[in-house]
Amino acid sequence: MQPADALSNIDLLVVGGGVAGLSAAVRAAAAEPGLRTAVVAKAAADYSATWWAQGGVAAVLAEGEVERPSFTDSVESHLTDTLKAGAGLCDGEAVQVLVGEGPQRVRELASHGANFDRGPSGRWLLAREGGHSVARVVHSGGAATGAEVERTLVAAAVALGVTLVENWFAVDLIVRAGRCAGVTFLAPDGTTVDVEARHVLLGTGGAGQLYPVTTNPLQSTGDGIAMALRAGAAVGDVEFVQFHPTALHAGSPDGPRVLLSEALRGEGAILRDEAGERFVDEMAPRDIVAASVAERIRSSARGHVWLDVSGVPGFSSRFPSLAERVRQAGVDPDREWLPVAPAAHYMCGGVMADLDGATTLPGLWVAGETACSGVHGANRLASNSLLEGMVFAARAVEAILAGKSSPDPTGVLRALNSPAPNDCGAIGVERLHRNVEAPPGHVGPQSSKAPRERPSGTVSDDRRRLQKAMADGVGVLRDAGSLSDAAGVVDVIRHRYGCGPRDDPSGVASLETRNLAEVASAVIAGARARTESRGGHRRSDFPSTLDAMSCRFVQ
Ligand code: SIN
Repeated sequence: MQPADALSNIDLLVVGGGVAGLSAAVRAAAAEPGLRTAVVAKAAADYSATWWAQGGVAAVLAEGEVERPSFTDSVESHLTDTLKAGAGLCDGEAVQVLVGEGPQRVRELASHGANFDRGPSGRWLLAREGGHSVARVVHSGGAATGAEVERTLVAAAVALGVTLVENWFAVDLIVRAGRCAGVTFLAPDGTTVDVEARHVLLGTGGAGQLYPVTTNPLQSTGDGIAMALRAGAAVGDVEFVQFHPTALHAGSPDGPRVLLSEALRGEGAILRDEAGERFVDEMAPRDIVAASVAERIRSSARGHVWLDVSGVPGFSSRFPSLAERVRQAGVDPDREWLPVAPAAHYMCGGVMADLDGATTLPGLWVAGETACSGVHGANRLASNSLLEGMVFAARAVEAILAGKSSPDPTGVLRALNSPAPNDCGAIGVERLHRNVEAPPGHVGPQSSKAPRERPSGTVSDDRRRLQKAMADGVGVLRDAGSLSDAAGVVDVIRHRYGCGPRDDPSGVASLETRNLAEVASAVIAGARARTESRGGHRRSDFPSTLDAMSCRFVQ
């Protein structure tokens, strides 16, 4: 069957083949009666950002399920740790849902065949990661959890007869009468295909490719967030780009940086500066460790600090995939400290959604890294990401099955239309209006009649320019001047590639660059408006956290 034939009369069209999209598809197809479901991915279905995820899945499991040391854990403790990491911007109701429903989603994944690491008694082993008060992270292959999750979900989707279409690029959402009615794709043969569906779920991951140094794969170009922005769906919290503090600073500069999982620090790895001194609590939340590493690097002659794994018992046998990748990069973990530096890792914000993943555009649903469900706030707690995809994808499907067709004022959407957000117990919102005018001397948003300025270099030149501007201006540390410089570069590229609702596609690379510029512009707008430091957003000109800024910027 040709993909186009399989893509007719679809109830649920899922864009993206990672944990969020596949969890939704598997649940939808397994329901009785099921939903006619298709998953369309821009690459091979098993090659998503999920595949690269390391640490694991944080969830409070029952006493008899895990190798539990003497401590006891609780859902309340997971909730408290998540809220603390989120630096005042989590939605409490959404976090309750995450930690409350998470354990059941982990069990379901195991019932689909996911092999989480087990201890001598056959129960699941738990790891501890930064920001967690106790060990509560189930994992697979030491630090190869994402690959196991991806393998399991692809196999389950195939077994349930879900249509999987690979290498189709989602160009834009189809919006009709105020509803999302499908997606326009660019097929591998260069034709554009409109796929109609009763419901569309975006699980397209994040936008790590905004930066030259990232742990994300090449596909992470913010496609879902950019499509939602162009379609007018509310997007929030995007200034909170999370940088992982310990990416290996060695090996090939192309492709994702080798991530050295926080689980290593949970097992005793130590961060050391140029002088070999410890300088931070390795188990602090990720934003604090990343900022501290960035500051050490700034005041040193090297572009990195060190991760000393000599105190991790049996490093190579317990973390075989990591040990192999470190060796491939030319570093011997048995003899040397590992050079590490921060790398763009995760988009905490995204397309705003209620507690069922429904966005402000009826018919459009979202889960996983593409979403702003409110569970991450200003900084995501380690190993809450796979969990978020599993929990909110399941809720979206249950809501669709129950007949829901438009968003409710719950979660981060509660405050959107409320005249007095504080009265509804939600964090207030402020609308940001991005400049859509072309900068002087450049052609503005595309219309079919407007002549189009030719880019001065190749698409890859433009992408590199954008990435450099983001790294220089919107990195771990930022200020008004650096943000303004980045905005200058990004605005030019954004207008070059056209920001109208339907550009004329000239190939995947330019469409991705268009999306990166769209998302970069939103990140910069949020970062300029947020004149404080909070979570993953650190301004050297505004180092304090301000009560007056306990709000969500929405675009
Ligand atoms: C890690 O293993 O350090 C990354 C896990 C995560 O991003 O939550």
